[in-house]
Amino acid sequence: MLEVYVLGATGLVGQRFVQLLSGHPWMRIAGVAASHRSAGRKYRDSVRWVLESPIPDEVADLNVDPVDPSAIPEEVSIVFSALPSQVAAQVEPELAKRGFVVVSNASNMRMDGDVPLIVPEVNPRSLDLVKAQREARGWDGFIVKKPNCSTTILALPLKPIMDRYGVSQVSVVTLQAVTGAGFSGVPSVAIIDNVVPYIAGEEEKIEGELPKILGHVDVRATTTRVPVLDGHMEVAYVETAHEAEVEELVKVLSSFRGVPQELGLPTAPRDPIVVRQEVDRPQPRLDRWEGRGMSVVVGRIRRYGDRTIRFLVLGHNTVRGAAGNSILTAELLIKWGLVA
Ligand SMILES: NC(=O)c1ccc[n+]([C@@H]2O[C@H](COP(=O)([O-])OP(=O)(O)OC[C@H]3O[C@@H](n4cnc5c(N)ncnc54)[C@H](OP(=O)(O)O)[C@@H]3O)[C@@H](O)[C@H]2O)c1
Repeated sequence: MLEVYVLGATGLVGQRFVQLLSGHPWMRIAGVAASHRSAGRKYRDSVRWVLESPIPDEVADLNVDPVDPSAIPEEVSIVFSALPSQVAAQVEPELAKRGFVVVSNASNMRMDGDVPLIVPEVNPRSLDLVKAQREARGWDGFIVKKPNCSTTILALPLKPIMDRYGVSQVSVVTLQAVTGAGFSGVPSVAIIDNVVPYIAGEEEKIEGELPKILGHVDVRATTTRVPVLDGHMEVAYVETAHEAEVEELVKVLSSFRGVPQELGLPTAPRDPIVVRQEVDRPQPRLDRWEGRGMSVVVGRIRRYGDRTIRFLVLGHNTVRGAAGNSILTAELLIKWGLVA
């Protein structure tokens, strides 16, 4: 059993890490850390737990540490980071320098050329970059990043479409859940009975990260926040190089499997992409737990002319869009012998 450590464990993504790692066959949480507001008390006393299941017993009585790279025990193999990016920018390189493997949700360093930005079914071989990263930076450890939540969810259906038909341009409009903004992200007075048509920095992240993951593609994104608790919906228009028939496209998406499925990794869903044929699906409340939150659900596929397809995709933002994708990445690192 490998010992892992969660930074930002009291936040919304951190809580998901704690929940999803409970009972994990390969990893055990050895420690948790958060800001000075939470540190120094037991996890059960400091966290404002908001998830569906109770706080796992094995974590409830752990003391919450302050975030301090020099205090993380050497026995820890993987550090999962759910810190705000400004904090992560200070802490994560220090951890990699000290020899830890860092799997991070924070947006800093995502676009650095030697930093893998991983959706395990889509671009697993980008993990090869860690060798160059270690050499270039002189680190014993390394940093792997998870893409932005909306990027992660959209990359899954785009991958088989790109492989089969070629993709030249993607236009996407997102309808993002409030938990995507973190614990104190969106005031209730701003979001109840409302749609907020702007999320700072989000459009640029999607437009920059998708080409890093998928290769050359022109992406245009409009991002909005909607009064949904969990589950990001995205409306995508995709220009393909070759003609795509709807019936065949459904098969291409439904039959898509990646390396995590081939290897039978513990967090891999059987079907990374589930296609719903009903006219009123996907819906956040009905579909976000598909594949234990690790599958994305595609629906409303429509064709315009020979070369344009439209579909909606929904994914659980703190599971596939954050902690679950990071845990799946860690499983791949372990399986490929990249974790000591
Ligand atoms: N929410 C999502 O769906 C989502 C999806 C993808 C990526 N992300 C990224 O994941 C990271 C965490 O997001 P989140 O939604 O979980 O945020 P959050 O709910 O605000 O949680 C932030 C965590 O970081 C800790 N923290 C805050 N300021 C700190 C400081 N100065 N020093 C040390 N620790 C500090 C907090 O501790 P306290 O509780 O003590 O304040 C908390 O544990 C962010 O980088 C975010 O952009 C989030």
